[in-house]
Amino acid sequence: MFKIKTNDAEQTEKIGAQLAPILEPNDVLLLDGNLGAGKTTFTKGLAKGLGIKRYVKSPTFTIIHEYHEGRMPLYHMDVYRLEDGGGDDLGWDEYFFGGGVSVIEWSQYIRDYLPDDYLKLKIARNDDDDDQRILTFEPQGQHYEELVAQLKEVLE
Ligand SMILES: Nc1ncnc2c1ncn2[C@@H]1O[C@H](COP(=O)(O)OP(=O)(O)OP(=O)(O)O)[C@@H](O)[C@H]1O
Ligand SMILES: [Mg+2]
Repeated sequence: MFKIKTNDAEQTEKIGAQLAPILEPNDVLLLDGNLGAGKTTFTKGLAKGLGIKRYVKSPTFTIIHEYHEGRMPLYHMDVYRLEDGGGDDLGWDEYFFGGGVSVIEWSQYIRDYLPDDYLKLKIARNDDDDDQRILTFEPQGQHYEELVAQLKEVLE
């Protein structure tokens, strides 16, 4: 586990951009955090870090946005709308094992379809400071343990 504090949206974006170069095909990143925590903000930075120049916006109405112009594909998913189910036939594994990076906002709503191993990033607000966030990286599995160790080196 690795924790880091950010003091504005740009800092959160930057950490996303710094994570991008150490990601590998089929990496899966779960973004946890309430409405407005900064999940999409982090994803914007990650996309930039992959070399994606197209504007990354919240995919709330389409569930999945694919970006193919970067170092590898980015599959940005926001499954908030699947809170009450209905995500069972969307072919998740085609994305998770499709050779790109999958980033999933509100992943708890498709818990049954997630791979065994992943990197979870929890983003938490500070009630006393509107612009502060605590980012907690929680790896699941050996590969992601190593990824977090690498990220720690890059950020420290
Ligand atoms: N330290 C910070 N890190 C990230 N975002 C911040 C920070 N401080 C302020 N913000 C602001 O918080 C908002 C985060 O919005 P964002 O869309 O990224 O959240 P989200 O977690 O994707 O929400 P949703 O669940 O609705 O998709 C933005 O308006 C951003 O400018
Ligand atoms: Mg979002």
